[in-house]
Amino acid sequence: CGIVGYIGEADVKEILLKGLEKLEYRGYDSAGISVRNDGELKIFKEAGRIRDLRDKVDSGFHATTGIGHTRWATHGEPSVANAHPHQSADGRFTLVHNGVIENYEQIRKEHLSEMEFVSSTDTEIIVELIAKFSRDGLTTEEAFKEALDVLHGSYALGLLDREDKDVIFVAKNKSPLLLGKGDGFNVITSDAMAMLHLTNEFVELMDGEVVMLKKDGITIRDKAGNTVERDSYIAEIDESDTEKGTYEHYMLKEINEQPAAMRKIIQEYQDEDGALKIAPEIIDQINDADRIYIIAAGTSYHAGLVGKEYFEKWAGLPTEVHVASEFVYNTPLLSERPLFIFISQSGETADSRAVLVEVKKLQHKTLTITNVPGSTLSREADQTLILLAGPEIAVASTKAYTAQIAVLSILAQVAARELGKHITINLTEELAKVTTAITAVIDDAETIEELVHEYLETTRNAFFIGRTMDHYVGVEGALKLKEISYIQAEGFAGGELKHGTIALIEEGTPVFALTTQEKVNLNIRGNAQEVQARGAKVCTIAMEGLESENDAYVIPNVHTMLTPLVSVVVYQLISYYAALHRGNDVDKPRNLAKSVTVE
Ligand code: G6P
Repeated sequence: CGIVGYIGEADVKEILLKGLEKLEYRGYDSAGISVRNDGELKIFKEAGRIRDLRDKVDSGFHATTGIGHTRWATHGEPSVANAHPHQSADGRFTLVHNGVIENYEQIRKEHLSEMEFVSSTDTEIIVELIAKFSRDGLTTEEAFKEALDVLHGSYALGLLDREDKDVIFVAKNKSPLLLGKGDGFNVITSDAMAMLHLTNEFVELMDGEVVMLKKDGITIRDKAGNTVERDSYIAEIDESDTEKGTYEHYMLKEINEQPAAMRKIIQEYQDEDGALKIAPEIIDQINDADRIYIIAAGTSYHAGLVGKEYFEKWAGLPTEVHVASEFVYNTPLLSERPLFIFISQSGETADSRAVLVEVKKLQHKTLTITNVPGSTLSREADQTLILLAGPEIAVASTKAYTAQIAVLSILAQVAARELGKHITINLTEELAKVTTAITAVIDDAETIEELVHEYLETTRNAFFIGRTMDHYVGVEGALKLKEISYIQAEGFAGGELKHGTIALIEEGTPVFALTTQEKVNLNIRGNAQEVQARGAKVCTIAMEGLESENDAYVIPNVHTMLTPLVSVVVYQLISYYAALHRGNDVDKPRNLAKSVTVE
């Protein structure tokens, strides 16, 4: 799931371990490093945390070249044997790999049928293949290239050769990997954040290229073997943004950062006269389109559901929202002039990227909305909008979701204005109100924590109901709760209750009912009564102005179209405290990764 590598003069062990610690937030189940020392390749690996790996690394030697990896199991269970780096049986090469090789069984049969393997990973096949080609008489660069030609699938690779102390061999296809430049050293990393303590100057690497990384130079060659010259860029991320500060968890810090993120978005998306602004090229893309297709995964998908309302209700543009992993294999009938909008916190999600690659082949217009400038989806789409939420570290997404909704609202609003639609909302003012309302909810965290005592302390499941906007927030609330508390949770449209799910309601089952939309207030309250009558413990969260006597929590009044930005914060805090009370690892929930770079 994460790769780091360094070649230079400093103690590489510490550099790699620190880099891996910076990648911890992305979720992983095992980790390892390989360093070159005195003509030997040493490997240290551990299942579990980086601190356990640290204890294993022997500090009694100085090495200056190495590669490291955090793994999120795809082929084979999480274990020391399956952790990276993998070494060829002849001891000559060690390799780290992100991605999935689709034809590894076939490669094993065709090229390596005599070999015995110690792990059940596709990565071991790659390193043995390189070793075999090298034993056949090829130079390492040639053997590396030859192996790449055989591989089908996604990969980011870093390779060490025992016989060549001056080089790390690097290549990628579909999976993210960056080259970082330093003074007297160079690095590789799958996430700029892991190496920011060393450098903020990066060079992009393209699919199919092969790199020889030395301490004083980087050689990139394209598929045909030609040397490629490419300018570096400066990654504009502040390293202090990635620290936890006084907060117990990143998730709590990030929930608390939402008002600041809102303010930043309002400010940055405004011109000198205070009018909302979006780059004209992006507005042209929208106004030329006859239909918008929003593509995303997880929480970003849920933000997309809200975004659809803005495009349709404000700009009058038909909009569809699709889960990326489904869209790519089951593409619906497209309109004549579609615009594809990719929403992704990380900008690296492989499922979304797979769609981007396909629609680019068809020459459709593309726009990425992401929190990470320079990420793969941002680089590869025609246009990008940045979320400005600051680095999000906790696996469960919070501030990126609200930032996505805010940016989508601004985008749709500016598009509506340019299309000459009748504007009924002063969005800048309304978003400012939202910011104050989010602050009020966060300040009330203790009251929300009490709801957890009352409704979620021992339960194994929970339901989230709502209608229209509140339905979208319900599915996000359920996702948040299951991700970190492991309580089985389901969010659905209130009206659907009676068509099936109500069968699951038992004495004491918690049901969260959200009501912020006047039009359906009575309907959802009716749905709440239906479950209450069957024993459910209903926790009603209402917006000021729609509240009634027995509501468990009331959020401040904001514009009807913007309520998700505030109501979701209640669910974020409920999920946080539910996970905390259960003693779970809030920031790094089991089995999940922050950025899923495999399809
Ligand atoms: C992973 C994360 C989710 C996230 C989803 C999409 O599954 O655990 O929190 O919502 O990926 O990620 P993206 O970076 O594309 O928004």
